[in-house]
Amino acid sequence: MKKIAVFASGTGTNFDAIQRAIENKELNAEIALVVVDKKTAKVIEKARNKGIETYVFSYKDFENKAECEKEIVRRCKAAGVEWIALAGYMRIITHVLLDAFPNRIINIHPALLPSFKGAHGIEDAYNYGCKVMGVTIHYVNEEMDAGKIIAQRAFDVPENATLETVEAMIHQIEHVLYPETLQKLLGE
Ligand code: GAR
Repeated sequence: MKKIAVFASGTGTNFDAIQRAIENKELNAEIALVVVDKKTAKVIEKARNKGIETYVFSYKDFENKAECEKEIVRRCKAAGVEWIALAGYMRIITHVLLDAFPNRIINIHPALLPSFKGAHGIEDAYNYGCKVMGVTIHYVNEEMDAGKIIAQRAFDVPENATLETVEAMIHQIEHVLYPETLQKLLGE
């Protein structure tokens, strides 16, 4: 059974979806660690309720980003982590973490990359007036939302859809596509 770490900064609905897929035996993996860079993030309680180890920290507690990532690497290795899934983890990752897990760190982005990178992918695509929107899963590199694409899923935006409607549609796709993609990658 492959051990993965989920990195998150917020609500953790993608964490939920991955954990649910594991419980339903659709994803043959174990979340060995949840890494959270925000002490108030809702995902922390979700992980703890499932009895999953968490590492919660604030970047400000470290001298610099490299020192912080060294500690993250240490925690991941100690937990036996082989793959890292970023799920709403709102930080650029540096070579310290990337070198420790080469080609083993992936991210989910709520837009069809290379369009609408950044923290507001859904809103940006919606405000642009896109008629097709979707989700991307990609390998992580040192540039934001720029690594090699692994999977994408698109949908037609319904006429008169509100931002809330498309947000719900994006999240629904994310919660299927992320566990599905992880299962494919881990099985390789
Ligand atoms: C997700 O929609 C994810 O795609 C997005 O943050 C949300 C986290 O939700 N990530 C990015 O925008 C990365 N650029 P969650 O905490 O409920 O999983």
